[in-house]
Amino acid sequence: MYIFCCKNNVFRVKSSMKDTIQNLRGFPDFSIEEGNQIGFILSKLLKIGKSFGFNFIVPPILEPIELFQRGLGDTDIVNKEMFIFPYKERKVCLRPETTASVVKYCINNNVHRGKFMYFSQNFRKERPQKGRYRQFNQFGFEIIGIPSPFREIETFFFINQFFKSLGLNYILKINSIGSIKTRTAYVNDLEKYFKTALEKDENALCQDSKNRLERKSILRILDSKALEDKQTILEAPKILSYLEKDSAEIFKEVVDFLQKQSIPFEVEETLVRGLDYYNDIVFEIKCDRYNAAQDSLGGGGAYDSLFETLGSPKTNAFGMALGVDRLILNEWPMESCALDAYVVLAEPYFDILSEVLSSKKYRVIDYFVNIPKALEKAIKNKINFLIIIGDEISTGHIIVKNLEKKDQQKVKIGTFKDL
Ligand code: HAM
Repeated sequence: MYIFCCKNNVFRVKSSMKDTIQNLRGFPDFSIEEGNQIGFILSKLLKIGKSFGFNFIVPPILEPIELFQRGLGDTDIVNKEMFIFPYKERKVCLRPETTASVVKYCINNNVHRGKFMYFSQNFRKERPQKGRYRQFNQFGFEIIGIPSPFREIETFFFINQFFKSLGLNYILKINSIGSIKTRTAYVNDLEKYFKTALEKDENALCQDSKNRLERKSILRILDSKALEDKQTILEAPKILSYLEKDSAEIFKEVVDFLQKQSIPFEVEETLVRGLDYYNDIVFEIKCDRYNAAQDSLGGGGAYDSLFETLGSPKTNAFGMALGVDRLILNEWPMESCALDAYVVLAEPYFDILSEVLSSKKYRVIDYFVNIPKALEKAIKNKINFLIIIGDEISTGHIIVKNLEKKDQQKVKIGTFKDL
């Protein structure tokens, strides 16, 4: 084995390739750069979340399948995409999303008002491609028991603050799918419309959409990206004209808020989302820098009947999730918080080492026990600072060598962490 490269302060070691184990398809390892980007994005999200008063929640990854069968309904995720395993005479699955798990937590802990955020790994058997994986990472939050329009305003304000902090242009696509009553009336009309369209022209819909019509998965047809379906969907009845007074009022309040705050949005009347638990306002976050397969950076909406579906008293709820793996398809300028340094510890003064590690100015990349070796590596790896804990200890000092400027500074022990 020998070292052949150092990037991002990580040494890669060449080894025999004979017995290496490859990743499963759709279960990627991210590169070191991507991992750092995920950490960077997450730290921003958690900071905003904390300032908005969200609690951090960590639900289990393995869940009973009924949670999603009941919660998400007759959807592709449930019908085709879950990883299901037998476990102690029952069936369990890797969670395909986190909202239902958060609701289960709330129900089991009698929480009917509160705000929760999470960073979660989710699993769906989708066809893997760049930005679409079988294990993927979401940052999300759920606002429980807080009425409209507070929850919508908070969500859209959060999203805007986050994207602005990254300097990334995005567009919010929003729609309202109304109450269950509205949707029932709408779905009936939509079904009639699609059937009539097919009677007039048997190619008005693609085979997938015809199957959906057959299975009465009518709303999903509006999600179709097939070219044959485009015109038929464009001319289909629009749900906004079916909204009841309350739903229409909330939609107007939210749209007014977005306009007044100059938050970039478009009303997209065919937006229905791929999960059955939604009602009223639904949305997706898109970014034109990404290609169509991964252009949805996040989405969410209201799900005021999910608590009831999962056996609890009615509790209104609203939330969203961002696809963190998609966000890192862009490179973000990461704020560097500290200067990279090597420590040379000529004698085992470990308590002084703890002072060096507390410094905000320097971050310790590696350790050495003699100066020539540290110097050689620092030059090779473009590390500009050596922090030397050696002879000057006798006079109460640590030496910081700046290799670029070719000078050095004596720092009094006890003051290092305040540099
Ligand atoms: P979703 O639209 O299924 O919603 O997922 C949210 C985001 O997760 C997507 O917009 C996308 O960025 C990312 N995502 C989804 N599938 C994959 C994948 N296979 N690979 C990479 N990224 C992916 C939900 O999951 C809802 N639970 C959101 C929500 C929270 N609704 C209310 N509260």
